[in-house]
Amino acid sequence: MSDEAIQATNDDASMCKRYAVEKGYWKDPFIDLLVKLGERKAPEINRGYYARVEGIRTLLEKFLRLTECKGQVVSLGAGFDTTLWRLKDADLVPSSYVEVDFRAVTSRKCQRIRSRDKLMSSLAEMSGGIEHVQISDAELHCKHYHIVWADLRNLEQFENKLNSCGIDKCLPTLFLAECVLVYMPMEKSNELLSWISSKFDSAVFVNYEQVNMLDRFGQVMVNNLRSRKCDLCGIEPCSSLKTQEQRFTSNGWTSSCAIDMMDIYHHLPDLDRIVRLEFLDETELLEQLLTHYCICTAYKDSKNIGLSSISPKS
Ligand SMILES: C[S@@+](CC[C@H](N)C(=O)[O-])C[C@H]1O[C@@H](n2cnc3c(N)ncnc32)[C@H](O)[C@@H]1O
Repeated sequence: MSDEAIQATNDDASMCKRYAVEKGYWKDPFIDLLVKLGERKAPEINRGYYARVEGIRTLLEKFLRLTECKGQVVSLGAGFDTTLWRLKDADLVPSSYVEVDFRAVTSRKCQRIRSRDKLMSSLAEMSGGIEHVQISDAELHCKHYHIVWADLRNLEQFENKLNSCGIDKCLPTLFLAECVLVYMPMEKSNELLSWISSKFDSAVFVNYEQVNMLDRFGQVMVNNLRSRKCDLCGIEPCSSLKTQEQRFTSNGWTSSCAIDMMDIYHHLPDLDRIVRLEFLDETELLEQLLTHYCICTAYKDSKNIGLSSISPKS
């Protein structure tokens, strides 16, 4: 799969999120500033995205409250994500929030941010003045927020970029990846996961990704993607919840926990509201979709600060 095709997965994910926001699944007053409204998406897709966004938001906020916003967040393959602005509005900005993606993606994101007063003024307010918001070479640096480009398959480049943002390996750090590792050869994602666990002594990883890829529906998903020139070269750890957990524990993480999105969906606090948003005449496809994605968390907590509580089961 070409890097261009991998980068295009961001357009797909961000347009699905934009559409679901438009339909009222969740509020995001910033997404329309970064992402155009695309074509209609099926209700199953919108509900799936809601469970994904809500599941990740819950874990992220748990981490930020546990660390009293003194920790760091590194969003791998962040694409056009708007979380930073939402955290700012909720007064939950961590000491550093770093987004990493390919240069082609960060370049477009930086251009769009620069041309949007609402986004820029929010960053200026956070940084103590517009002069402290620097955008150049497809990167953005300001107080608490950094967008940098790196290829996550290149550890040296990734580490240099984290250093350029002043990331402190002794601070509690949450790493987030939404359908990112699956586009990396397994030996590369293993290297990345074991590098993080060996360098950071207080870390949590939140991974949203495919699961149950060996069953019939999983194989149909893989074949559909392949026919769109989207080959999931890192699919092996997506065989089951157990293999998702093992990829972390075999790469230096203390413990991990994966649950599928069906489980998360059933525990959504406002499920009643969600099911009334759009009519769904049969739920089989929704169930198939939700049982083929999962959230897996893993932690390393050398200072015993309670990172094991950042789990989709708690
Ligand atoms: C499915 S999109 C997710 C985007 C965003 N996190 C979201 O959920 O809306 C995957 C993102 O990971 C990025 N990505 C995949 N492999 C990468 C790599 N090796 N280095 C840097 N970014 C990568 C892609 O460019 C893309 O933006």
